[in-house]
Amino acid sequence: MSKEIAITINGIAAGRVVGGSRITEIAPLLAGEPEVFVVYDEHVSWVAGEVMAAVPGVRGSIAIEATEEGKSMETVLLIARSLLEAGASRKAFVLAIGGGITTDLAGFAASIYKRGVRYANVPTTLLAQVDAAIGGKTGVNFDDYKNMLGVIVQPVFTFVCAEVLRTLPRRDFLSGAAEMLKTFVIENEDGHYARAVEWLSSGGLDGQDLILAAAAVKAGVVSRDPYEAGERRKLNLGHTFAHAIEHEARLRGDDITHGEAVAMGMILAARLSDALGVSTGLEASLTQDFTTAGLPTQCPYPVETLAEAMDKDKKAEGGLVHFVLPERIGSVIIRDLAVRDVVNYLKI
Ligand code: GLY
Repeated sequence: MSKEIAITINGIAAGRVVGGSRITEIAPLLAGEPEVFVVYDEHVSWVAGEVMAAVPGVRGSIAIEATEEGKSMETVLLIARSLLEAGASRKAFVLAIGGGITTDLAGFAASIYKRGVRYANVPTTLLAQVDAAIGGKTGVNFDDYKNMLGVIVQPVFTFVCAEVLRTLPRRDFLSGAAEMLKTFVIENEDGHYARAVEWLSSGGLDGQDLILAAAAVKAGVVSRDPYEAGERRKLNLGHTFAHAIEHEARLRGDDITHGEAVAMGMILAARLSDALGVSTGLEASLTQDFTTAGLPTQCPYPVETLAEAMDKDKKAEGGLVHFVLPERIGSVIIRDLAVRDVVNYLKI
């Protein structure tokens, strides 16, 4: 049975998140679309195959290698060229099937092809289902900067189906789990946070309801602040630290996933909150919960080594960086702080 969550911007319907228990339930969402072009990550060709068999309007498909190095203008141009060669008109509908790299690439290509054609997402990673594939952020890396070129254009829909996670490697699943817990640290109506910790500790099977609950939180934030002028910044909880951890890991040749860095980053954010008196004992309780959920909690690098990368965070303004600080489970605030002060607080 499908469930829908609306994304409404300034009172106007801008998109929707649709949950379905079977991948083939996507077919009615594309009924009457004569020009569907599927852009898919080659690792999930089985999902693309099922979609293409179920949707009569598919006119072409483009397989991509979804890597951070390939998240580039070259790949966007490759998608655009494929659309052009296949005769895609302004009525074309691009369907992205894959994780956040694929939905970012396909969404960006669709948004600039012939000045913009419609697109929709079928996220195949937990991370993309609860975060990356919702909210219209698209783009590519440029000159060593992540997501430096891109646009915010809402997908017509994001189809969320837990069935597609069955081939997701465990480590990638846990990477998404960190973003799910992040979402519920930001907003925890109905006690989803505790249920998510329990669900993850028992292996993370059959999580459609929790995945949709996290997707609903994201859809709500995006509806209220589509262009990240304020509230949407809360979704960066743990991310200023995480980006710095990922940067340091790249320099050292260490293997740390985005979600692992986000989990460590949230622990550092909680330590900062505790040190500033914004929260009490939150680092200890998050550490316990994340460990139960199977996530790492200890950043392997001294905080001083993260300072330079945090200063370069593209969200920094006027020498200060927007830090998202958890007050308790279900509530975060944003404080603009100097990185030097943050490092000093964390060293205590
Ligand atoms: N991933 C954070 C956002 O979409 O704003």
